[in-house]
Amino acid sequence: MTDRYAVVGHPVAHSLSPEIHAAFARQTGHNLEYARLLAPLNGFATTVDEFRASGGCGVNVTVPFKFDAFKYCEPAASALAAEAANTLDFRAGTIRGYNTDGSGLITDLEHNLGFTICGQRVLVMGAGGATYGVLHPLLEAQSKLLVVANRTIDKAVALVERARQKFSGHDLAAKPYDALDGAQFDLVINATSAGLRDEMPPLPPSVFAPGALAYDMVYARQTPFMTFAKRHGARTADGLGMLVEQAAEAFLIWRGVRPETRAVIAAMRDRT
Ligand code: ATR
Repeated sequence: MTDRYAVVGHPVAHSLSPEIHAAFARQTGHNLEYARLLAPLNGFATTVDEFRASGGCGVNVTVPFKFDAFKYCEPAASALAAEAANTLDFRAGTIRGYNTDGSGLITDLEHNLGFTICGQRVLVMGAGGATYGVLHPLLEAQSKLLVVANRTIDKAVALVERARQKFSGHDLAAKPYDALDGAQFDLVINATSAGLRDEMPPLPPSVFAPGALAYDMVYARQTPFMTFAKRHGARTADGLGMLVEQAAEAFLIWRGVRPETRAVIAAMRDRT
């Protein structure tokens, strides 16, 4: 029987994951099916229970269910760090949960964009689920300084306090946007949802160090943050590479082989 996987979300019709995994399967010669599963907002567990009972081998999990997936699974270290899971593997008779978003971002930055995080000053904007997913991997990559800025400062403080328990030796801080005046960063990551509404956080233009990279986790649209960053001299990248790299990590967990991503990123770029 063909191995079956799916992406679970709400909404899910826009997800590129089926196309990405179909490309990986063709490339590696693996025989699998990959579908979209729309779960009701209060029905994540029921939807995944049914998929498992019908013989499904694993799922990817997207907004807004990554926290539900964490509660549903036996979390591996990557999911524990993020308190969220985006990849579930059912084959071992258990529900093993992983979070591949962080490693997807790091691989996109370091391998695809040629940006070495070690020793760099990093600013992450936002303190929601997207930041939870990437904070520990950014610290593990040994950034010199990591600042989390958020409109609601309490959320950034809570996130930073939690990370400090594990990364006590790191220069790590939570700041409101108006405290960023005068500070400079080599990497500025937009992990807010502002771009989806054509908005951007109130960022002072002076934050971009010479040669800085501005990275927006949103993909397939030119966000106000990217326009702003370009205008103030930064190199820009969107989150399409991260999307494909997190999928490649999931494929590796499920299938034991990591697909080549460059051609798949280019193909997805043509589709968006
Ligand atoms: P998720 O958990 O799915 O990432 P979220 O909890 O709503 O979603 O988080 C979205 C993030 O984007 C938050 O950090 C939010 O800031 P607040 O915590 O202050 O709400 C941030 N965000 C959304 N729109 C923004 C805007 N226009 N300017 C600045 N930050 C914004």
